[in-house]
Amino acid sequence: MDECDSHPPFSRSFQAQGAIGGNGNATTNTRHITLSQTFENEFLESGFLVAKAHQPDQIEQIKGIIFDKAREILDVDSANAESFFDNFHRNGLNDSDLNDFRVRLISEFNSAPNVCEIIFEAFKDTLFSLVGPDAVVQKSVNIVIQQPGDTSVSPAHRDAPPNSLYEVVVWLPLTKCYGTKGMSILDRSASSLANEMLEKEPPAYEDFKKLAAAKGTPLEMDFGEALFFWTGLYHYIPVNAESETRWSLNLRFKNTFSPYGRKGIPDYFRIVSSSPLSKLAIGQAKKSDLPT
Ligand SMILES: [Fe+2]
Repeated sequence: MDECDSHPPFSRSFQAQGAIGGNGNATTNTRHITLSQTFENEFLESGFLVAKAHQPDQIEQIKGIIFDKAREILDVDSANAESFFDNFHRNGLNDSDLNDFRVRLISEFNSAPNVCEIIFEAFKDTLFSLVGPDAVVQKSVNIVIQQPGDTSVSPAHRDAPPNSLYEVVVWLPLTKCYGTKGMSILDRSASSLANEMLEKEPPAYEDFKKLAAAKGTPLEMDFGEALFFWTGLYHYIPVNAESETRWSLNLRFKNTFSPYGRKGIPDYFRIVSSSPLSKLAIGQAKKSDLPT
């Protein structure tokens, strides 16, 4: 089971325009903000934001790679990626075949050239704002496929630890997300309450479950948007009760020179971007780095 997919949605609170953040109260917020001080303040307050790709073509390219490889593995014809993803459950794969398909798809997708670089470029402005120009990326992108009614979802959890608190998780849906087809996340305030419950002796698991159900912000997202969230936030996906299959990618970025958790470099992360100064310092500078 993937680390980052996991529980019930509530009503979505934000409307995308550039980058959008949240305050964890699921009922009242509709905000329009751009990459700015407001964006930074929102991220600091909530610990997450949804941002549109600055380079939409790059995300279409990622979707196309996955679509092509998935059709090839299944040996099926389909002319429309969105319809293929949404109606994937109609292929009738059993659990074992679905797992085999997913493992092979992840392997082949990650073998394609520069997929992490393409995702980085697509969201470069947002990632530069969050982690800076010296960035490492998780070496293998996870692909999660959740067919309608599939109950194999992770409970609400946070990624740190074992990941470090210096990482941002990027959750990227391949089709439109609505209702139970999306991801739910607890903001900083709710995640802090969750920590208090789970640190009790014995841990207050029932209270934690109620909190997650009450405070998780549902995310309605369009393809071309990504959720960026701090690894200290609790998150989950619900059992998909919609009539369409959920497809999503997840991966993590962090500053190259920030502390690592139990997942380090070069085993788990690799460099995806370096500042000019770092290129000089680590001997990576090339003439092609010079402006023409
Ligand atoms: Fe996770």
